[in-house]
Amino acid sequence: MNTPFPIEDRVQDHYACPNLADAIRTGLKTAGKSLEDVTTRDLAAVDQLHTGGPKATIDLIKKAGLTETQTILDAGCGIGGTTRLLAQHFHLQVTGIDITPDFIRTARTLTQWCNMDKDHTIDFHLGSVLNMPFSDRHFDAVICQHILMNIEDKPKALAQFHRVLKPGGTLILHEITDGPGPDPLMPVPWGSTPATSFVPTWELFNTQLEETGFNQIHFSDETQNAADWWNRVNTIRKKNGIPPVNTGLIFGPMADHFGPNLEKNFSTRAIGCIEAILTKPD
Ligand SMILES: C[S@@+](CC[C@H](N)C(=O)[O-])C[C@H]1O[C@@H](n2cnc3c(N)ncnc32)[C@H](O)[C@@H]1O
Repeated sequence: MNTPFPIEDRVQDHYACPNLADAIRTGLKTAGKSLEDVTTRDLAAVDQLHTGGPKATIDLIKKAGLTETQTILDAGCGIGGTTRLLAQHFHLQVTGIDITPDFIRTARTLTQWCNMDKDHTIDFHLGSVLNMPFSDRHFDAVICQHILMNIEDKPKALAQFHRVLKPGGTLILHEITDGPGPDPLMPVPWGSTPATSFVPTWELFNTQLEETGFNQIHFSDETQNAADWWNRVNTIRKKNGIPPVNTGLIFGPMADHFGPNLEKNFSTRAIGCIEAILTKPD
């Protein structure tokens, strides 16, 4: 009997990128940046692996009403773009966790380059959100941004978020949902094939959130904004070309398809993009 590769292996294979920091260093050099003067802004075209870039994150966190020095978990932090943004822009104490070893290694390196590794407000862990090493009731908030598409057992992930949140804590979601349109075009950033893609309808996802014990305080269907955002990205790229620091450094030539496919997938409602803020009751 054939045993399919566990999903964790498929996800790590999809994102594997052993020399990513070197590739980003070369891209920065081509863009005229030296490592001495790298800022989070210089990395945004490669370290924000979600629709809407840093602005989407900033707008969403403002809605969540978090206060300085609160603790937040960046669940599935990738190479740490949102982790650094939350520490820098909102002065939160941020812990990033991700299952992809190359990403956690790169997240630490990029954080050093940005001179953000010494103030003890950022911490990265290698591991799965399905089995987290953090104690119960540890965090004031959890942000989960474009990661659940890679997770088949969503109730298990949601139970973990609920466990590590303090009573009254906040779950912030910026996620992809299944839509009423045609099958999505692949590849997309979370999968070259459907083997790593598990996109639920919002109705199912919302039921799972309720069953876990979360109360919703904000919901927004961002699908049209997502289609418009990718349209702008694609238009700028057609006009100016692809900048030297870009997601192709992670995904290779496959990344050339992401912008066109995502614009089409959002505009045909093959997939949706949602934002939601929920609380764990006291
Ligand atoms: C599309 S990327 C988004 C990264 C980041 N949240 C961002 O917006 O830049 C999805 C991330 O989820 C991570 N991931 C997938 N399954 C995971 C799991 N079970 N536990 C932790 N991280 C996971 C992947 O390694 C990848 O870094």
